[in-house]
Amino acid sequence: MSKKIAVLPGDGIGPEITEQCVRVLESLRPEGLALDFEIAAVGGAAYDEAKDPLPQATLSLCEAADAILFGSVGGPQYDSLPRPMRPEQGLLRLRKHFDLFANLRPATVFPELAHASTLKPEIVAGLDLLILRELTSDIYFGQPRGIHRNAQGLREGFDTMRYNEAEISRIAHVGFQTALKRKRRLCSVDKANVLETTQLWRDVVSEIARDYPDVELSHMYVDNAAMQLVRQPKQFDVIVTGNMFGDILSDEASMLTGSIGMLPSASLNDKQFGLYEPIHGSAPDIAGKGLANPLASILSAAMMLRYSLDEAAFADRLEAAVRKVLAGGCRTADIEEPGCKRLGTAAMAEAVIAALHEASSR
Ligand code: IPM
Ligand code: MG
Repeated sequence: MSKKIAVLPGDGIGPEITEQCVRVLESLRPEGLALDFEIAAVGGAAYDEAKDPLPQATLSLCEAADAILFGSVGGPQYDSLPRPMRPEQGLLRLRKHFDLFANLRPATVFPELAHASTLKPEIVAGLDLLILRELTSDIYFGQPRGIHRNAQGLREGFDTMRYNEAEISRIAHVGFQTALKRKRRLCSVDKANVLETTQLWRDVVSEIARDYPDVELSHMYVDNAAMQLVRQPKQFDVIVTGNMFGDILSDEASMLTGSIGMLPSASLNDKQFGLYEPIHGSAPDIAGKGLANPLASILSAAMMLRYSLDEAAFADRLEAAVRKVLAGGCRTADIEEPGCKRLGTAAMAEAVIAALHEASSR
């Protein structure tokens, strides 16, 4: 029976990269990958159509699907809308609605791209770290929040950083279990020297560590972690952290790999249902020009095959095909270097499709 994928292209470069990603997945149909794709609007595109960044029709489609393939949301034309109407709310509501609390953001340096990083190649070559970001709580969702007039008549903005122990415990378990499948090192990032919320975070993670004697747990303050990530990134295996620190550190980690255009992500609930998206944003400056790198979306699709669709063999093949096109010198503008083959979005996807099929005929 074929599985159903809700495709939510969104805004900016989202539509062009997801279109190419779907083409790559479709090319595996003759070999038995039976996926049905249904497209729905999200973000600014949905606001334009339905005055809602997450219309009910889109939500219903996602509820009926086996996984969500997401593009990107946002654009300057929406920045002055009231907050509930902004494109980002479409994504945040999806995360909350499906309880997608575990956000896996791997940062892997492909050998061919070690020179594309702004850091020295010897610092990043061979890097393979995973940021596990809690995605449904923290200051992103904590109440109360708002902008009001204080007693002195001054406008005052406030948000609430908040975690309960159940939320910390479930992401910590995912962290330890993920580390067990990798190099068995887990670094929990917090700001326990200042913030009560993250003192609780540290306490709960330490309690849970007793269940995982084979994992080496360390704790690091977020400011130090930001520094260590550029100083000596290979010291890390799995980093587990809260929603806000994870947002910031994962953008930083992406640049270790050469381009934010390369990094996939998976956002999962406890039923292995997930939303898969590149970690890059909507890049309005290059939208519609056919320049965007589709590899982060294609690598997100590989994560979807592995984590939600039980198709690990196809996932491995997709990742191998991406490595092969990079080794063959294919580059989009963001990872361009002298002597490479400069390709646009569609041509890069075609190169991946060609590599997939060469691999299968061997
Ligand atoms: C991300 C993005 C989102 C976030 C935005 C678009 C709401 O930056 O997925 O990292 O802050 O979580
Ligand atoms: Mg972000």
